[in-house]
Order: sequence, then structure tokens, then C-alpha cells
Amino acid sequence: MVGLTAALASQNAHKAQELERLLPGWTIEPLGSDAYPPEEGATYYENARGKARFGLTVAPLGLWVIGEDSGIEVAALGGRPGIQSARFGGDDPVARLLAELGETEDRRARYVSELVALAPDGREFHGTGILEGRIAESPAGSEGFGYDPIFIPKDEQRTVAELGNAWKAENSHRARAAQALLEAVRGY
Ligand code: IMP
Repeated sequence: MVGLTAALASQNAHKAQELERLLPGWTIEPLGSDAYPPEEGATYYENARGKARFGLTVAPLGLWVIGEDSGIEVAALGGRPGIQSARFGGDDPVARLLAELGETEDRRARYVSELVALAPDGREFHGTGILEGRIAESPAGSEGFGYDPIFIPKDEQRTVAELGNAWKAENSHRARAAQALLEAVRGY
């Protein structure tokens, strides 16, 4: 298990950096391609698996390939944007989310991450992670990415962007998915 190199089938460099911190002993190389197929799955798992399978077709032979799909689900919006999170709100998804929520009192939300790893022999492993929380009234903090300036995890008073990358490495939905993935891969 130690010393694995995996290609991450994602255009998102933040995710590769986060994952490398989360999977001790693994080297994670972002797999650049301008030909990623559209995310058409109905679930995070289907999208993550689709990315990993596409990655296998372009990654150097013999590497593991990891696909990840994640999103934020807001209770008062019926779980939206969910699997559409990356395509929500154009240039300013944070502003759109705050605008849609307005003065709504129910601010409950959660982050979800699904990781699918394909071994060089094609065996598949996966892990799911969830981080419960709520949407802040206004953005705060500068670390992380995406919705982090407006996401306050359960039992915390500050946003993920204020809590920072070290906090994320221990507690995020992706950290939890990585833990579950490591459990699944253990003994391979
Ligand atoms: P995808 O997994 O590449 O489809 O993108 C998921 C989207 O969900 C990202 O573009 C972000 O908008 C949001 N998201 C997922 N994980 C995080 C996170 O850790 N912080 C902030 N936003 C996130």
C-alpha cells in the first residue's frame, strides 16, 4: 500500500493537493486532459466512477486512477445544488447560493464526497464522506475553495475557509471519504 502513485482524474488542482495530504504514502498526480466527458451520472458515485474510468484511458499504464465527485446539499433548497455544484451559479456560486437562501432561517447543509479508485488490474474500491453544517449569512475566510467561505461545519462557529486547510485535512468530507477508501483498499 505504501508508496502508491495514483492519477487523479480531475481538472481541479485543489483536490489533488488535498488528496495527497489525505492519503499518506500516496503520490497524487493531477491528470490533465481537455477531453473529460460530461458528468452525466445520477449520483456522486456514478460520476466519480465515470471520471476514474475515463482516467484509466489516458493515464500512464500501471498507475492507480482516482475519480472524485463532490457537492454541497442545502436542505432549504431541496438538496440542491448537489451533484450540480460545480455548474451552479457561473462565476460566483457563493453569491447565487446566498441569494437563493435569502433570509431563510433553515441554513442546514452538508458536503458530500465520493472517491472511486481503480487499481491497475481494474479492481474498484470506493469511499464516501459527509460533513454536516450550515450556510453562513455572509462569506468569511480565505483558505479552501468553492463554498468554503460560507460553510460552517456542525459544532464550529467559523467557516471552513476560516478554519483552514489543516482543519480540512482532518475533518472534511474528502478526508472522511479518503479514510473510508483507505479502509477499503487495506489488504489489497
Ligand atoms: P466536482 O466534484 O468537480 O463536480 O465539483 C464539486 C463542486 O462542489 C466544486 O466545484 C465545489 O463547488 C463544490 N465543493 C466540493 N468540495 C468542496 C470543498 O471542499 N469546498 C468547497 N466547495 C466544494
